[in-house]
Amino acid sequence: MCVFALVFSAFDQESLSVKVLIAGGAGYVGAPMAHRLWEAGHEVTVFDRLSFGAESLTCLLGQPRFTLIRGDIRDEAAVRNALEGQDAVCLLAAIVGEPACNRDPDEARDINLGGARVLLKVAQEVGVQRFVFASTCSNYGVADTSAPVDENAPLNPISVYSETKVQAEQEILAAASDTFCPTVLRLSTAFGVSPRMRFDLLVSDFTLAAVKDQKVVIYGEQFWRPFIHVRDIAKGFQTVLDADRDTVCGEVFNLGGDDNNTRKIDLGESVVKHIDDASLEFVELNNDPRSYRVAFGKVKDRLGFTPDWSIDDGVAEVGAALKQQVWPDPMDARYRN
Ligand SMILES: NC(=O)c1ccc[n+]([C@@H]2O[C@H](COP(=O)([O-])OP(=O)(O)OC[C@H]3O[C@@H](n4cnc5c(N)ncnc54)[C@H](O)[C@@H]3O)[C@@H](O)[C@H]2O)c1
Repeated sequence: MCVFALVFSAFDQESLSVKVLIAGGAGYVGAPMAHRLWEAGHEVTVFDRLSFGAESLTCLLGQPRFTLIRGDIRDEAAVRNALEGQDAVCLLAAIVGEPACNRDPDEARDINLGGARVLLKVAQEVGVQRFVFASTCSNYGVADTSAPVDENAPLNPISVYSETKVQAEQEILAAASDTFCPTVLRLSTAFGVSPRMRFDLLVSDFTLAAVKDQKVVIYGEQFWRPFIHVRDIAKGFQTVLDADRDTVCGEVFNLGGDDNNTRKIDLGESVVKHIDDASLEFVELNNDPRSYRVAFGKVKDRLGFTPDWSIDDGVAEVGAALKQQVWPDPMDARYRN
C-alpha cells in the first residue's frame, strides 16, 4: 500500500517512496516536516536559502533519500533544477510573521508572493502534481470571537504578512487542474520544540518568560488564538499528501484542533502550572485584531486529522527543555524572526 495516495504516476507504481521538495524545509516548521517525511520513506529535498543556517537538518545530511539545496525561491533557474522530477512540493519558504514582514515589506512581498509565483509556475511546467501551501489562520483577522470561523469565512488580512498569504492562496488555488493538485493549509500558530527553535511565538515566548523571569506579562488576556505543535503540522502535510486527489485538490483546510483554540489567559495558566514560582501579570488591551477562534471540523471530517499534541504538552516540553538549558541563550536574535 502506497503511503501517498495512489492517484498519479509515481504514486501509482506502489512505490513507497515519493519525491517531495520542501521549500523552506530548514525552518521551524520545515525541519520537523523534513524529518517526518524522510522517516516515512520518502525522497526528500529541502530547498532553502538557509537564513537561519542548516543545523536543523544536520541529522539528515549525508543520508540516502535526502538532498539539501541552498537556494532562493525567487531564482527561477535554481527552482527549475530543483523541481525537475519531483512529485510533490510543500511551500513553506517565506518571511514569516508580522514583525519580520514589517521590517522590509518590499522584500516580504517579493518572497512571499513573487517567490510563491515562481514555484507555482515552474511546478506546473515540470509536471509536479501535488502542491501544498503553508498559509495562516491569521488571514481571518477577525475580532468577533462569538463563533469559530471556518474556511468559508471572509478573509481580513491586517498586515503585509497576511496580505501576501491571502494573495498567494488565491493564485495557488486558481491553478488547480486535472494534472495539478494544489491544497492550502491555514496553519494555527505553531508551538513545540523544533531543531530550528523559535521563541518569538506565543507559547514558547510565555514559557521562556516564566522560566527566565518567573513572570509572564499578558497583553489582552481574553483574546483568542488557535495553536498547533510543529509535529502535528508535519503530520497534517503528510495527511494531505497521502489523501485521495479529489479530497484535497483545490481545497483549503484550517490546520489545528478545536481543543487548541485558547484564550491567552488559559495559555498563561497552563504555563504557570508547569513552571514553578511563575506568576501572571495582565495588561489591559481593549482591541486585538488578531483575536480569532477557528473551526477545524473540515480537516477532521474529510481527512481524519486531529492533533496529537495539546498546548499543555507543548508548554511542558518547552519548559523542560529550557530548564535543562538546551539552548545556551534562548534570548539570542537567531531564535526570533
Ligand atoms: N510558525 C508559525 O506559527 C506559522 C503559522 C502559520 C503559518 N506558518 C507558515 O509556515 C511556514 C514556515 O514558518 P516557520 O515558522 O517555519 O518560519 P521560519 O522563518 O522558521 O522558516 C522559514 C524558512 O524559509 C526560508 N526562506 C525564507 N525566504 C526564502 C527564500 N526566498 N528562498 C528560500 N528559502 C527561504 C528560511 O531560510 C527559513 O528556513 C511559513 O510559510 C509561514 O507563513 C507558520
